[in-house]
Amino acid sequence: MALEAPVFLVEDDAAVRKGCEQALSLADIPVRGFGDGEVMLAAFASTSPALVVSDVRLPGLDGLALLRRLHDCDRELPVLLMTGHGDVAMAVEAMREGAYDFIEKPFPSERLVAAVRSALERRALILENRELKARLGDGIARIIGQSAAMQNVRRLVANLAPTGVDILINGETGCGKEVVARAIHEASGQRGPFVAINCGALPESVVESELFGHEAGAFTGAGRRRIGRIEHASGGTLFLDEIESMPLNLQVKLLRVLQERCLERLGSNQSIAVDCRLVAASKVDLKALSDAGQFRADLYYRLGVVSIDLPALRDHREDIPLLMAHFLQEAAQRYQRPLVSWTPADLLRWGAHDWPGNVRELKNVAERCALGLPDALFPVDTPASSFSLAACVDRAEKQIIEEALRQCKGNVADTAESLQTPKKTLYDKLTRHGIVVERFR
Ligand SMILES: Nc1ncnc2c1ncn2[C@@H]1O[C@H](COP(=O)(O)OP(=O)(O)OP(=O)(O)O)[C@@H](O)[C@H]1O
Ligand SMILES: [Mg+2]
Repeated sequence: MALEAPVFLVEDDAAVRKGCEQALSLADIPVRGFGDGEVMLAAFASTSPALVVSDVRLPGLDGLALLRRLHDCDRELPVLLMTGHGDVAMAVEAMREGAYDFIEKPFPSERLVAAVRSALERRALILENRELKARLGDGIARIIGQSAAMQNVRRLVANLAPTGVDILINGETGCGKEVVARAIHEASGQRGPFVAINCGALPESVVESELFGHEAGAFTGAGRRRIGRIEHASGGTLFLDEIESMPLNLQVKLLRVLQERCLERLGSNQSIAVDCRLVAASKVDLKALSDAGQFRADLYYRLGVVSIDLPALRDHREDIPLLMAHFLQEAAQRYQRPLVSWTPADLLRWGAHDWPGNVRELKNVAERCALGLPDALFPVDTPASSFSLAACVDRAEKQIIEEALRQCKGNVADTAESLQTPKKTLYDKLTRHGIVVERFR
């Protein structure tokens, strides 16, 4: 562990404190000693200890009060109490209040070291869990979109990721297949790497050794042994992009890997266990391809057990403002430019565009706008009346209501309150704008 967090030790008896510090230092456990609780709390404000060992009887703040103060800041901080003779009742109360353990004085130094070690292990687990939780949230949160379709995608990813099941992601170009594949990996809790391979971009002669690896001398030019990508993905995720362009003969081999969970490097008979999760992505309907004999049906059925279908952007246009806002902000930061805003005319044009390149195309448009260039989309023939003040106010009102509904998760009473509007008025406006409340739940 880099820069290990120290153990904070609170003991007013200088001799005992010194003894404990020495015992812990000898066991390679970094420690910082304090003569009273207040001083320790002051240090706690700037340094996070791995855990706190404290005497229960202290001048000023006693061990129990200290425990409460520490747990007010971090409920999961292990606190070990040292109790003198006759303090057992207090120690029991402390345990009930969430102390990790107590040691009765006098104790041999090994007892202290053992108790601290066990608490450190517990702390490491807690931190690992926190990190995992943070990562779980992150990957999925990067999938932007509040439309029902995108919410469903996030829900699927959250549910499927931890199961380890192989997943096929379907979707047109630029609609976020790789974003989703990475989110699955991050939310899976797997410690191994995310290894992406584009089956369409590699020449057929290279794909095989790239995927499976080879032994030295397996073929002309194979000078040294090479570990394939599947092996590299061990303990992690292998992302096979454009699986539809995988040559048929390799599909057979891949199927074997998926079924038997083992592979052989080229030029070797030795079977190597495979323990990665496979996420594949396809731009075309694999079923149709397999019906046409261009993709192995058995592989399709094996891959397609669990699939996630990503919608084309034109099928969730309501996410355009959110995506645009995100990419405009990202571009403004990247190019160190002021954040640009859009006009109702821009929104209309974007709303009418078909987005054949999906979110990637939208991201490019955002970048152009951020750089002050025209978005290069055809202007839409819109009646001049769409830009009247009334029409603009109307559109803004609809957007504000939708945003409030989103924040209140489709609860109309809460939305009315947040907009400081009578419920009846809000219902009228919902009807007038054709807003379906269920979409926000
Ligand atoms: N829902 C989304 N939220 C945030 N960013 C997205 C989303 N969908 C796509 N993107 C962004 O759009 C771009 C294209 O996404 P990605 O590479 O995942 O698409 P793809 O489906 O793999 O495309 P292709 O089939 O062309 O490989 C990326 O920059 C990605 O960050
Ligand atoms: Mg891709």
